Amino acid sequence: MKETFYITTPIYYPSGRFHIGTSYTTILVDSIKRYKKLRGYDTYMLTGTDEHGQKIENVAKANNESPKEYVDKMANEAKKLWKKLDIEYDDYIQTTEERHEKIVQKIFEKFLNQGDIYKGEYEGWYCEPCEAYFTQTQLVDNKCPDCGREVKKMKEEAYFFNMKKYADRLLKYYNEHPDFIKPKYRKDEMINNFIKPGLEDLCVTRTSFDWGIKVLSDPKHIIYVWLDALTNYITALGYMSDDETLFKKYWPADVHVVAKDIARFHLIYWPIFLMALDLPLPKTIYVHNFIVMKDGKMSKSKGNVIYPEPFIERYGLDAFKYSLLRELPYSQDGIFTPESFVERYNFDLCNDLSNLLNRTISMVNKYFDGVIEKYIDSDNEFTKELESFTLNQIDLFENKIDNFEIANALKEIWAIISKTNKYIDETEPWVLAKTDKKEELKSTMYHLVENLRKIAILIYPFMKDTSLKIFEQLGIKDEKLKTWDSIYKYNIIENIKVIEKGNPIFMRLNFDEEIAYIKSKM
Ligand code: MSP
Repeated sequence: MKETFYITTPIYYPSGRFHIGTSYTTILVDSIKRYKKLRGYDTYMLTGTDEHGQKIENVAKANNESPKEYVDKMANEAKKLWKKLDIEYDDYIQTTEERHEKIVQKIFEKFLNQGDIYKGEYEGWYCEPCEAYFTQTQLVDNKCPDCGREVKKMKEEAYFFNMKKYADRLLKYYNEHPDFIKPKYRKDEMINNFIKPGLEDLCVTRTSFDWGIKVLSDPKHIIYVWLDALTNYITALGYMSDDETLFKKYWPADVHVVAKDIARFHLIYWPIFLMALDLPLPKTIYVHNFIVMKDGKMSKSKGNVIYPEPFIERYGLDAFKYSLLRELPYSQDGIFTPESFVERYNFDLCNDLSNLLNRTISMVNKYFDGVIEKYIDSDNEFTKELESFTLNQIDLFENKIDNFEIANALKEIWAIISKTNKYIDETEPWVLAKTDKKEELKSTMYHLVENLRKIAILIYPFMKDTSLKIFEQLGIKDEKLKTWDSIYKYNIIENIKVIEKGNPIFMRLNFDEEIAYIKSKM
């Protein structure tokens, strides 16, 4: 039986159009899932929308719609965008679906019955847009520590989850499971900022608005948004329902991918809820940073928000995905600028990748009528070095992607592309063609085609169409030559014929024109 791999995105607030930052997580998750699938895993990807809460109720009202009409419409919009981005999710959960609401109610009653949830009174500083309470010490300049907006003092009867009870267990878990939080520095952040100062109990109900899941045993209370939202990762699999097949198969999740602003909820509250349910914890929670603009965070008021659609329409999906994934470093925010996009397009995609394919195809046509017969071992030092360099890069790529270092993983692939371009200059096929070193020339052509085949396999999870175009232009039809297992071998291509005239897969962009185009879309 295949090993399973369950991966999730956060569920999105359907309060507006998704920009490139919000799309980032989903593109990332989709790429990791495709990679794991290529490696033979039985994969399952979950995404969805987080549809309750005051904010949604307000937006729906302003639109003259019922909250449910509004969230259904927005979920459809989200699905349309994921289709444009070719996101291959396996399930889409809306938290307003019965399959979710019923189970959240059951979970609440269970917590109540086992004494993890108690009734009390809450007074605190409330940030409406973030739907979160903060203590005085958590505020920054008397404003919301997450979004910087005004907070107001509020008091109400509420239920609380007894987080303190689990604090030691959580710490112990962190320490015994070094892979639980990635990158590692996020663990220290949680310990120093939230756990060591003393974990506060979490307010899990509200009475001041309606749009949410009612507490079964006390229906004037609405289950407060994080207990509702986080449980989507298990309700979507049918946990506590009549059919737990998916849950038994895929839980615990292999990885939840989230951005830094929601790290606290995933790294502290979610594991504690799971402990209280007596369920195993996800193997990893990977926290990425933010895609930002030159002038900081994207915001409508700054007028610096970029949406994915204009990029996909003009430059194609693969170029957009590549640049986005490549731009965000593992442990820092990544700055996305029109200039860096066009530069990446011209250098990485056009000069490096597209030209390598073109040069190779034209040489194989010129010297051998487009035919690659069979592997020829070579004493040539450059060829030997190319082989060992490439295999080592594949190893590095695997390490990086298994650690969710996507930008670095892409860098390792591009190192192979650069090395292969350099190999052409080192071996000088045009000189070999003028001598009697025909076998050596054959070996060089073989290695170029072979490396392009490997590159096509490596980029497949991130840039499917480009990968398929490379296979097509190389004349590689046999599915066995496209599998991950075949990537470690150097001698398996036999008798292929490349196309007679290669088509550039990426064409050089005019820098100024494209900057102007992108800016006009901001
Ligand atoms: N509904 C919650 C998540 C609940 S998960 C149980 C939420 N939704 S959100 O729509 O506001 O954000 C969805 C994701 O997009 C979050 O991980 C958020 O941090 C991420 N991003 C929003 N802007 C971003 C960037 N500029 N860059 C990268 N990720 C960004 O939070």
